[in-house]
Amino acid sequence: MRQRITPYPFGNGSPRFLAWVNSAPHPIGVASSLIAAALDPSVAGGRHAAVHVEHEVIRWFLELLGWSRAEGAHGLLTSGGSAAALLGLQAARQRAFAKAGIDVRKQGVGAISVRVYATAEAHSCVTKAVESLGLGTDSIREIPVDEAARMDCVALCEMIASDLAAGHVPLAVVASAGTVNTGAIDPLGEIADICAEAGVWLHVDGAYGGPAVMLLDDLVEAREGLARADSVGIDAHKWLYSPVDVGMVLYRDGRAVRETFSLVPSYLRSEPTPDEPVWFSEYGLEQTRSFRALKVWTQIMHLGWNGYRELIARDIAVADHLAARLDEATDFEIVATGLSVVCFRHRPDGVAEEDLDAHQSRLATSLQTEGDAFLAPSAVNGRTVLRACIVNPGTTTGDIDEVIEIIRRAGDSSA
Ligand SMILES: Cc1ncc(COP(=O)(O)O)c(C=O)c1O
Repeated sequence: MRQRITPYPFGNGSPRFLAWVNSAPHPIGVASSLIAAALDPSVAGGRHAAVHVEHEVIRWFLELLGWSRAEGAHGLLTSGGSAAALLGLQAARQRAFAKAGIDVRKQGVGAISVRVYATAEAHSCVTKAVESLGLGTDSIREIPVDEAARMDCVALCEMIASDLAAGHVPLAVVASAGTVNTGAIDPLGEIADICAEAGVWLHVDGAYGGPAVMLLDDLVEAREGLARADSVGIDAHKWLYSPVDVGMVLYRDGRAVRETFSLVPSYLRSEPTPDEPVWFSEYGLEQTRSFRALKVWTQIMHLGWNGYRELIARDIAVADHLAARLDEATDFEIVATGLSVVCFRHRPDGVAEEDLDAHQSRLATSLQTEGDAFLAPSAVNGRTVLRACIVNPGTTTGDIDEVIEIIRRAGDSSA
């Protein structure tokens, strides 16, 4: 272990790991993972501690959205945002086909032509979900974005109208509460209006930005829009600092979702008693399910929502510090910012304009190889950038200052 495993980590525990959206794990979550593994329950359903803990965790998140169990809201923990998108869209598929008089579970997807709407900024897991559900990527309509990388609602409206006129069935809109690339938040309220008007399912991918939208005062408008979604995906292993893996899908009307997933063969269990909590396995794909809830539950118990507010706001403040430092420098250019993401380019003297893309790529490789800091290369509006995402409360402004110098040194030597 000491020779071959622990010296070679992924690196997300480091305060200078700024790539992708991989937070450092909170120690309480790490300890809880060990306890959960030792208890080793299957959280399909039943009446044992792990089931109640997951129900409580889900209830806490539903409350943040203003959704209530009594009115049918439900949810379950997943491996992450990809699984949440798949489950959200599977429920959307069930509803759209049922409206057309088709039992999609029995008859499959061939009978109608459907459309799923998302921007090019949406996470690739949306495409994977559409493929996995047998809808085919031809069913995806790419909605243009504005200059802030947010969904263009006029275009969305027009596309839905023209698809309806052409005989297609609009199945779902997938909006983002914090895109992976630039942290952009789509205009969720407007999109919810359009979906309500057209009777289209709205899934909001809040895998990255969901916690910020749900908790921070200055994002209240986005929160109101989020609360109007039909399903929402949120990752606890991103901006809630839980160890991998744990995300969740929340459904505004879980009763309809049960029709999508419930399949209870006789060998599995007898009729539940009326006071028994509903079975998670009837709301998703997994039968045997791990005790993911414990690490989320203990962290929320420990930090409280106010503790989380402070940590998330701190990450954003550190990202703002990075943006301010880059802004005042002559050898850097900011390309996009949002939530705790900063996309930028190093442009030192001596690197020609046409070589700037290659320069950022070389820099990213060199940083990764040297191992003193890690930023992922990405592209914004066709330009290669370095992308920093701060989801680690251990990252200080001092780390950021140091990272800038590390980039300068690496950049000057590769220029
Ligand atoms: C915005 C967004 N959506 C979805 C995902 C996929 O989530 P996961 O990797 O937890 O499956 C990510 C992962 O980075 C993401 O940032």
